[in-house]
Amino acid sequence: MHLTRRLCAPLSHFTRMKSLGLFAALTVLAAHSAALRASDVPAVALSSGGSMPLVGLGTWQVTGDRELEQALDAALEAGYRHIDTATIYNNEHLIGKVLKRWLSEGKVKREDLFISTKLPVYAMRAADVPDLLNQSLSRLQLDYVDMYLIHMPFGVNRESYNGVSIVAIGPNDTDPSTDHRAIWDAMVAEKEAGRARALGVSNFNESQIERLVKHSAVPPANLQVELHLFHQQKPLVEFCKKNSITVTAFSPIGSPGSKWLIKLSGKELPDLLNVPEVLEIAKKHRKTAAQVLLRHILQKGIAVIPKSSTPARVRQNIDILDFSLDDEDVASLDSLDKGIDGKLFIMKNIGGSVNHPEYPWTKLQNEATS
Ligand SMILES: NC(=O)c1ccc[n+]([C@@H]2O[C@H](COP(=O)([O-])OP(=O)(O)OC[C@H]3O[C@@H](n4cnc5c(N)ncnc54)[C@H](OP(=O)(O)O)[C@@H]3O)[C@@H](O)[C@H]2O)c1
Ligand SMILES: *[C@@H]1O[C@H](CO)[C@@H](O)[C@H](O)[C@H]1NC(C)=O
Ligand SMILES: *[C@@H]1O[C@H](CO)[C@@H](O)[C@H](O)[C@H]1NC(C)=O
Ligand SMILES: *[C@@H]1O[C@H](CO)[C@@H](O)[C@H](O)[C@H]1NC(C)=O
Repeated sequence: MHLTRRLCAPLSHFTRMKSLGLFAALTVLAAHSAALRASDVPAVALSSGGSMPLVGLGTWQVTGDRELEQALDAALEAGYRHIDTATIYNNEHLIGKVLKRWLSEGKVKREDLFISTKLPVYAMRAADVPDLLNQSLSRLQLDYVDMYLIHMPFGVNRESYNGVSIVAIGPNDTDPSTDHRAIWDAMVAEKEAGRARALGVSNFNESQIERLVKHSAVPPANLQVELHLFHQQKPLVEFCKKNSITVTAFSPIGSPGSKWLIKLSGKELPDLLNVPEVLEIAKKHRKTAAQVLLRHILQKGIAVIPKSSTPARVRQNIDILDFSLDDEDVASLDSLDKGIDGKLFIMKNIGGSVNHPEYPWTKLQNEATS
């Protein structure tokens, strides 16, 4: 265990995280001063070098110029240094503008930022990788990203994307030729060229990750996956731990802004922020329900990337380093996992994904009933 951050948290935090046995390279939980310093945010070491801050800002569905600027300013001021975006979020250019201002004013150093973006579903071909990463870098006004992820395991034709919404891609636009190993090799070439410091995958299942682990001398350093109170991903997290792959939880507070999308799958979005056990634990620690949901994940050494474009909530979501859930809280929250039944995003509406040979949740229905 190497400590890259100053140890200023009560030792109990540290030993609890250690006793969980997750991510031995996890650094230290810290600090409870009023003004959070970026250096106080715990980070996790990446197998390919460097480290990733365990709290980041999500930016999906933030496309308003002013909205994004306000959220990002609030985040950087509050100590966030990890920003998660994707080509298909259509906001890399806005993030680039804000980062450029912070960098040129000397308010933040490039090496302290951790910027993550993703290869889109319409570019799932080795030959598309250099082009798409270059486009992202140019919109972000950066020379490199800290993490480049394959966004989804399946692929659609490049021409089928209208530049606006992936939900508009038709069911016949699926591209079954997707070859993960070839795409991965192209990603590794970008890492070697210095345009991506670390590489990872998103929405891949265990066997898809395993295939890459066996294939490449540069295995995925991160899995970004849906993970929250009702879908805790215990087996997948365990698998990642064994393979030195860090985990980032997307939709960590249950994506309350995605009611419209969940409706498309014929489901109702559960309200994690009003689960009685969560409210009770929140009251006990004088924290909010969102803070309890985030802390529950963080305490397992898993990164959280909550999205908010409300400055007060942006600040609230990183203010989770000055308290610790006790064993009883953790046991109660752990027991609320619904496994596969708690999964929100099945991504069936993306260009016939469900019929693609790399659709990752084929066994979903079977497991849900077993
Ligand atoms: N790789 C993938 O396929 C994938 C898929 C989904 C998401 N992601 C990433 O993960 C990030 C987070 O996931 P997400 O956006 O789906 O959901 P989320 O972070 O779980 O939830 C975001 C929603 O919660 C609200 N919220 C935020 N903080 C709150 C607080 N303290 N109290 C009450 N409500 C709060 C936000 O509202 P306001 O903004 O109005 O405050 C927003 O509607 C995304 O933004 C994206 O970067 C990746
Ligand atoms: C990407 O950018 C690099 C460096 O600017 C350049 O060498 C390379 O040719 C570009 N690749 C593509 C496909 O545009
Ligand atoms: C998709 O292809 C099938 C079979 O060729 C056809 O019947 C159907 O109308 C097509 N759907 C769309 C949305 O183009
Ligand atoms: C994982 O993805 C593969 C496609 O690569 C699929 O065949 C397999 O059924 C998936 N596993 C589960 C558990 O859904």
